Amino acid sequence: MSRRILIAGNWKMNKTSAEGATLVGEVLAGLPSGNLPEILVFPPYLTIPAVVAAAKGSAIEVGAENVHWAESGAFTGEVSTAMLKDAGVTHALVGHSERRQYFGETDETVNKRAAAAISAGLVAVICVGETLAEREAGETASVIDRQTRKALEGISDTSRVVIAYEPVWAIGTGKTATPDMAQEVHAQIRAILKDLYGDAADSIRILYGGSMKPANAPELLAKPDINGGLIGGASLKAPDFLALVKAGAEA
Ligand code: 13P
Repeated sequence: MSRRILIAGNWKMNKTSAEGATLVGEVLAGLPSGNLPEILVFPPYLTIPAVVAAAKGSAIEVGAENVHWAESGAFTGEVSTAMLKDAGVTHALVGHSERRQYFGETDETVNKRAAAAISAGLVAVICVGETLAEREAGETASVIDRQTRKALEGISDTSRVVIAYEPVWAIGTGKTATPDMAQEVHAQIRAILKDLYGDAADSIRILYGGSMKPANAPELLAKPDINGGLIGGASLKAPDFLALVKAGAEA
């Protein structure tokens, strides 16, 4: 079973085109030689062309932070798979907790977005994770089960599926799940994937997200079912992101 570590930066609503291109340039200049993990950044839609241009021909892939399921039409504010592919995007983030919390994203729309991305040939990075209230109420396992199964409904091409476990209480708070806590949920997700896809589940990457940084990444990435990171804050500074790439290379 080979699962290449994936180190992904979710820039959220940060960086202009020029700033994004500069960050990519700094990361490229600092990449270690030798084995690298897969490296991916998710810039805001409007800055994608500049970031794609800066990353062209390099080891850095570019994803979008969301995607709509329709091919085109009256969906103000949304962006289609064709538009993303046309801009050089290879991945789409789907169901990030900030979209679920602030923009009315539901399990059903997450599924529609993921299915459309995958059938268009994009890799869907599907986010799941419990809130603090859900964890404290002992609902973590049931939330993860519901979100994961619903997001994957009707999806059969597992080569384009990546799951990101992002406990909402750990995002941007500086609180990280301990490696054991994270591994417990990642193992649960792996079991769901096995139930859905059998042996193909072994090659699906499950990323951890939530205050991952250079100091805690090696321990997290040492866990058997943690196959990379989806990093917010620490992906915005080249030295930190490079240290995470290095941790990915060494994991
Ligand atoms: P932080 O790394 O800033 O906690 O963000 C995690 C995240 O939401 C990545 O998608």
